[in-house]
Amino acid sequence: MNTRITLLAAACAFALAACGGQSPESADIAATPAAQPAPEAVDAAAAESTAPAPATEPVTTLSAAPAAASGKSAAVVTDCATVIEGSDAMQFNVDSITIPASCSEFKITLKHTGKMPIAAMGHNVVITTAADMQAVAAEGIGAGADAGYLKPDDSRVIAHTGLIGGGETTSVSFPVSKLQGAGPYEFFCSFPGHHALMKGTITVE
Ligand code: CO
Repeated sequence: MNTRITLLAAACAFALAACGGQSPESADIAATPAAQPAPEAVDAAAAESTAPAPATEPVTTLSAAPAAASGKSAAVVTDCATVIEGSDAMQFNVDSITIPASCSEFKITLKHTGKMPIAAMGHNVVITTAADMQAVAAEGIGAGADAGYLKPDDSRVIAHTGLIGGGETTSVSFPVSKLQGAGPYEFFCSFPGHHALMKGTITVE
């Protein structure tokens, strides 16, 4: 909340003519000399959203950058784990996951925040190399829903969660060493048609 208000205040400061002319309250907020980021700082955060987050303030950076950019963000990683969301709009809420190289195991939890049933809007998280993603997704369709739309014992699948419907949660843990080969690696949903939108990068660094 504080971050959002600060961003709004900074935006007003940046476009002072518009805010000041229409709303005295906004002008007051913008003029408050509290510790607001300078407009240049906001610009820098937006422009460098793909840069590694500063080790000292990862939360600030992760929550501030997407508001000014695409609306998607990097997954927040805590204690070698992350929680990501899938929606009824066929979207993950993040488009990248960065695993700290210091982790030996990593856990991904997927929450389906929608209401639609698994047959209509099923979601899972599947990890493969970027090169394998298309084929794994295409061949998974034939495996059917009961198999989570993954060919059984597909050696190209590095890790995957179960397939879930609205309101459900699932997770998977895997050795980080599995992602330290040639790569690059991606995560995606193997429900038919979903990987076009539901995908992102997963890296170790
Ligand atoms: Co899906």
